[in-house]
Amino acid sequence: MELDGRVAIVTGAGLGIGRATALKLASEGAKVVVNDVVEENGSKTVDQIRSMGREAIFVQADVSKWGEAKKLVDEAVKAFGTVHILVNNAGITRDKLLRDMEEEDWDKVLNINLKGAFNCCKFAVPHMIENKYGKIVNLSSRAHLGNPGQANYSSSKAGIIGLTRSLSLELGRFNINVNAVAPGMVDTEGVRNHPKYEMIIERALKITPLRRIGKPEDIANVIHFLVTDAASYITGEVIHVTGGRY
Ligand SMILES: NC(=O)c1ccc[n+]([C@@H]2O[C@H](COP(=O)([O-])OP(=O)(O)OC[C@H]3O[C@@H](n4cnc5c(N)ncnc54)[C@H](O)[C@@H]3O)[C@@H](O)[C@H]2O)c1
Repeated sequence: MELDGRVAIVTGAGLGIGRATALKLASEGAKVVVNDVVEENGSKTVDQIRSMGREAIFVQADVSKWGEAKKLVDEAVKAFGTVHILVNNAGITRDKLLRDMEEEDWDKVLNINLKGAFNCCKFAVPHMIENKYGKIVNLSSRAHLGNPGQANYSSSKAGIIGLTRSLSLELGRFNINVNAVAPGMVDTEGVRNHPKYEMIIERALKITPLRRIGKPEDIANVIHFLVTDAASYITGEVIHVTGGRY
């Protein structure tokens, strides 16, 4: 299989896009390190992978914390020997207009969405350099273009693009590809729990040329492509997967 022998870490893989990505990479042969803060959901993803006859472990860690991100990578190496693929997927929203947005809303979103990706790169990349092989995919969002009520989230997702481009320039010489995927609206728990769910879905449908909300698998398939050798000459890119919406 295409990803046989590869070890992949997927953060925030207890639900949504992260879970769909973990399942897709496992189905293509990768050994998957499933990370989440919520043990119950992460363990369910691991069970699903094992029931496919593939290998996976769960590592509970809050990626926004330096020491926990290190533990995540250390556990991956302990279980499977190294790391070839890192998908920085863990992310949250805390949507508020600027007038209502507090310091904690800013810090929480930036710390998980942006610092979390930096932390995981920091600890996974030395293993990739050693292997002279690595694939990093960071989850940005169409929201990097800006959305009212998302100053924190949009900034974190624009920051992900800066992180992606900078690391692609630093790490290309080690045969490490660093790319970002920027989804539009995708039907996940994260979106379904949004206080204005009905309103944002209705609005998104009207302005999405393909006239449907994305499925987690729509994003997982693109992430999968980016970690295969078919994409080995792509780095520093942002692939929008939005049903045509900008
Ligand atoms: N769903 C969308 O419409 C959409 C659109 C654009 C971008 N994205 C991005 O895709 C990614 C996944 O989104 P989703 O909709 O599947 O989210 P989701 O809320 O359904 O799942 C996110 C998972 O991340 C975990 N998580 C949260 N904080 C964490 C932390 N500190 N450490 C480890 N795990 C943590 C959660 O427990 C959860 O299981 C996010 O980065 C999100 O910003 C989603």
